[in-house]
Amino acid sequence: MSQKKNPVVAVVGATGAVGREMLSTLHARNFPAAEIIPFASARSAGTKVPFGDQELTVRELKEDVFAGIDLALFSAGGSTSEKFAPHAAAAGCVVVDNSSAWRMDDRCPLVVPEVNPDALEQHNGIIANPNCSTIQMVVALKPLHDAACITRVVVSTYQAVSGTGHKAIAELETQVRQLFNMQEPDIKVYPYQIAFNCLPHIDVFLDNDYTKEEMKMVNETVKIMGDPGIKVTATCVRVPVFYGHSEAVNIETKRKLSPKEARAILAQAPGVKVLDNPAEKIYPMPLDAAGEDLTFVGRIREDETIANGLNLWVVADNIRKGAALNAVQIAEELMARDLLRVKDTTVFMTK
Ligand code: A2P
Repeated sequence: MSQKKNPVVAVVGATGAVGREMLSTLHARNFPAAEIIPFASARSAGTKVPFGDQELTVRELKEDVFAGIDLALFSAGGSTSEKFAPHAAAAGCVVVDNSSAWRMDDRCPLVVPEVNPDALEQHNGIIANPNCSTIQMVVALKPLHDAACITRVVVSTYQAVSGTGHKAIAELETQVRQLFNMQEPDIKVYPYQIAFNCLPHIDVFLDNDYTKEEMKMVNETVKIMGDPGIKVTATCVRVPVFYGHSEAVNIETKRKLSPKEARAILAQAPGVKVLDNPAEKIYPMPLDAAGEDLTFVGRIREDETIANGLNLWVVADNIRKGAALNAVQIAEELMARDLLRVKDTTVFMTK
């Protein structure tokens, strides 16, 4: 039997909040890489990033760096992905992209390994990692959809600042310190103070008055679940939490599902842990989810205003399952299915 070569792996955006977590996840999961190469902007070239006990030297991302690289995990923003991912694919390097740039492109599968791993079979070199809030929601909803057919989802999110990147983490920290010292808080990343506040505004506002983040949840859910019959409406809110997104999710189903049945289904679902015992004050919280890989579901109860409805509370680490871990799980699935190659390197030459 021929021995397969381990891939050379690039992490693009390696100095950022998600990039660092990608490196740590690759290391923690013992990803079989021949070499791991961190890339970031010219600003960071030559700096070091941790990889287990080692330090790796960051290289500047350029269009021609992908020759000889088999797999690239991108988390450097949409414009960087739009510009560089096609060059990677053209060089035969498979991209798993964490930005929103390619998610709704028909040429790109949008994948959550617990939900739609088969979509990877059709990849053309760029695979999109969904939005963090969408990932944890579909992990919880897919088994319920399979059991009872979800027709409508109403979701409200409570999203941590780490979803905006390392500058937002620093901004919340700084604002808290400034306010405790009776100073005016510096407001740079968000339009308003985030410390001790909630902002119903994530990403930009669109013509329909929803935010882009809200419409990502609407459109990405349908693409991942592969069912346009699921209607989703969302309100996305940034809250002063460092790590861990929480979601209040209301679902309507064709078949009636009791909370007990839903709990039993979710207890068997891949990637899910049910934490639901109100009498003992047991429910998921972002402080507990931070640093964990699973999606936690609790507060499962009947929506008593409709015939077939349930309310759920879903919490996950947005940097891990919502970003870095999901990307690494996609890479692992590509390896397991022997899909770490680009069949046609011309697919992304035009957009
Ligand atoms: P750099 O640190 O050199 O700016 P975050 O999401 O935490 O804000 O991190 C964004 C990541 O994307 C960082 O690693 C950042 O690198 C990287 N990045 C931003 N713009 C570019 C670019 N034009 N080319 C390569 N990497 C970029």
